[in-house]
Amino acid sequence: MASVSIRNLTKRFDDVEVLHGIDLDIAHGEFIVLVGPSGCGKSTTLRMLAGLEDVSAGEIRIGDKVVNNLEPKARNIAMVFQNYAIYPHMSVEKNIGFGLRTAKLPRADKAKRIRETADLLELTPLLDRRPSQLSGGQRQRVAIGRAMVRDPAVFLFDEPLSNLDAQLRAQMRLEVKRLHQRLGATIVFVTHDQVEAMTLADRIAIMRDGRIEQLGTPDELYRTPVNTFVAQFVGSPSMNLVPGTIGADGTVRLDGIDGFAAPFAGTTGAGEVIVGLRPDELRVGAPEGGHAIRGTVEIVERLGHDALVYLKAGGQTLIAKAEAQPGLDAGADVTVSAPASALYLFDRASGQALPAG
Ligand SMILES: Nc1ncnc2c1ncn2[C@@H]1O[C@H](COP(=O)(O)OP(=O)(O)O)[C@@H](O)[C@H]1O
Ligand SMILES: [Mg+2]
Repeated sequence: MASVSIRNLTKRFDDVEVLHGIDLDIAHGEFIVLVGPSGCGKSTTLRMLAGLEDVSAGEIRIGDKVVNNLEPKARNIAMVFQNYAIYPHMSVEKNIGFGLRTAKLPRADKAKRIRETADLLELTPLLDRRPSQLSGGQRQRVAIGRAMVRDPAVFLFDEPLSNLDAQLRAQMRLEVKRLHQRLGATIVFVTHDQVEAMTLADRIAIMRDGRIEQLGTPDELYRTPVNTFVAQFVGSPSMNLVPGTIGADGTVRLDGIDGFAAPFAGTTGAGEVIVGLRPDELRVGAPEGGHAIRGTVEIVERLGHDALVYLKAGGQTLIAKAEAQPGLDAGADVTVSAPASALYLFDRASGQALPAG
């Protein structure tokens, strides 16, 4: 395994710059997830790491070696794609062994590697089967096995779970996590799914338009998003963002919503802001001091224990996650409140977070 270091990584396709100088240090054995909307440059970054795209400017190191000009096969990396291809006419054993076809190893060593890989992935009882006799998850494991068998320094995954149905996806997420725990492998994993990112990553790089907006642990991104983009991207359902103001005395008010006046323990000065409220932190029911928002229930989505309540208040739609309770139906008048500690504030013009005091 190896560390990866990316400096000022830039990519131009013809005259169009799509990656604008990315810096990223990935520790030996770390699980890094690149996440962001479609077209933000995740795959391009990964393909440059793999050596499948030229570097327009900047530097990539794997271990202590600059790899910018190394052929893909000289980089000692393995890549698993969304559309993993395993050969239907080959057994599991042959499919895994395919990863070693160009390796200059004695036959006995190859056989040993294949056995070890199959063991790790719990594929040993299936070695003689054909892909048609496997479940979707088992097939995915064979594809990973083919990448693993070469004992690469770094694993690259490009949305490997995106084509799977929801249940299999959740199951494979666990498998990938288990694999990481067992191998201690350095992994760079690309997804557009924030839940996948949050559950898998040691650290997440949130990308937008060819830049990293924020790099941090899932907890850091959730608790201290640097701007409204990250705030809305992380967490499900998304953070409510409501235009408001902060007064010179630090009191936060929401545009068009009377009766809400909450203190903000920051040192920001008066101005126009965007107020962030996480749906999980909004309480439906008894108002709490001056932090109450009165509104009308528009839609209730029942999730079992909880319900998502879509609420109209002062021309805004807010989402609250609440315990399902009788009377919480469309058309009902409700009050939601948020503890003052749950407020996030962003500058209205720039979208940058205003630090809490
Ligand atoms: N071969 C290419 N030629 C021209 N533009 C490309 C090429 N590959 C990707 N792009 C552009 O680069 C940007 C980033 O693409 P990509 O890395 O595939 O995004 P993501 O994987 O985050 O969805 C997009 O605007 C895309 O259109
Ligand atoms: Mg992509």
